[in-house]
Amino acid sequence: MSHFWSGRRVLVTGGAGFLGRRVVARLTDHGADAIVPRSADHDLTRPGVAEELLAEHAPSHIVHLAARVGGIGYNQAEPAPLYLSNLLMGTHVIEAARHAPSVEKTVLLGTVCSYPKFTPVPFNEDSFWDGYPEETNAPYGIAKKAQLVHAQVNAEQYGQRFSYLIPTNLYGPGDKFHPSVSHVIPALIAKCVDAVEAGHESIDVWGTGTASREYLYVDDAAAAIVLAAELHEGTQPLNLGTNHEVTIRETVETIARLVGFDGELRWDPTKPDGQPRRRVDATRAEQQLGWHASMPFDDGLRATIDWYLANREDATRPPTP
Ligand SMILES: NC(=O)c1ccc[n+]([C@@H]2O[C@H](COP(=O)([O-])OP(=O)(O)OC[C@H]3O[C@@H](n4cnc5c(N)ncnc54)[C@H](OP(=O)(O)O)[C@@H]3O)[C@@H](O)[C@H]2O)c1
Repeated sequence: MSHFWSGRRVLVTGGAGFLGRRVVARLTDHGADAIVPRSADHDLTRPGVAEELLAEHAPSHIVHLAARVGGIGYNQAEPAPLYLSNLLMGTHVIEAARHAPSVEKTVLLGTVCSYPKFTPVPFNEDSFWDGYPEETNAPYGIAKKAQLVHAQVNAEQYGQRFSYLIPTNLYGPGDKFHPSVSHVIPALIAKCVDAVEAGHESIDVWGTGTASREYLYVDDAAAAIVLAAELHEGTQPLNLGTNHEVTIRETVETIARLVGFDGELRWDPTKPDGQPRRRVDATRAEQQLGWHASMPFDDGLRATIDWYLANREDATRPPTP
């Protein structure tokens, strides 16, 4: 284990969220002092809040995870706040970090939703700007992408240091299962578990099942973030993925098998598939960080299902308005 983090202070925005809790746990294990501001007290969409936090805590590093995030349904229902709040939070944190004397580096989280809708698979970082994202997640994806431009021009003009990571779809224990914000894996786990418990013979699934996704276990993503904060130099983004592409049909069939649901899957093609294919090329992260994902998909799903069954009240809590 590296001694780099021993005694360092790290501000983790969104540190009480799904990914944030795992990043905080890892930093703490490495000896860092992680500061976790909550949105109720420190709303980062408001001007001045990021500056106040940095002045109060004087961290050496920032891991900026705070965001409004959800699945296709949430992206379709809330495009305007998803665009504006994610853009504002990123803008405020990057500018505050630039002016804060204590801050050595800021880690920013992008998203695979920023990639063009149609781009060669696996997605390479060099294709990031080659087209408009898939429509349902474009407002979120573009707000996140703007943070890369902001960080790159600040690096060029002011020498600000940052890392920008682009993870694929995350999953794992601690994910959000409330239907208004859940992503595909928690949504499908909840459907299958509910169907087994209620004795239903079928479940409805959005789309055609042909779209594909690449799922990254939350602890694998947290490991990459902590490594990037310590080791990454340069201004180019790094993809984070597993090199394992799974169709939505395979995803739901695997979850159904693990949960013990053997009823019918009723596909609803009137609902969107979202981006047709997703798999990233994570070679750059492997070369620059020595990182690769290690959790096998079935094992990660089992851990997620077990966590959901043991923490149902927590898991299905509605999001903060
Ligand atoms: N989940 C994925 O599949 C995925 C994939 C790729 C990238 N990412 C990125 O990873 C990061 C973490 O995602 P996540 O899934 O862990 O999300 P999450 O569980 O929803 O956590 C996000 C956190 O952001 C904080 N937040 C929201 N609005 C805020 C505001 N106005 N001011 C301050 N804090 C605010 C919330 O803090 P409180 O709890 O205090 O309200 C929340 O805990 C995000 O940047 C996301 O874009 C996620």
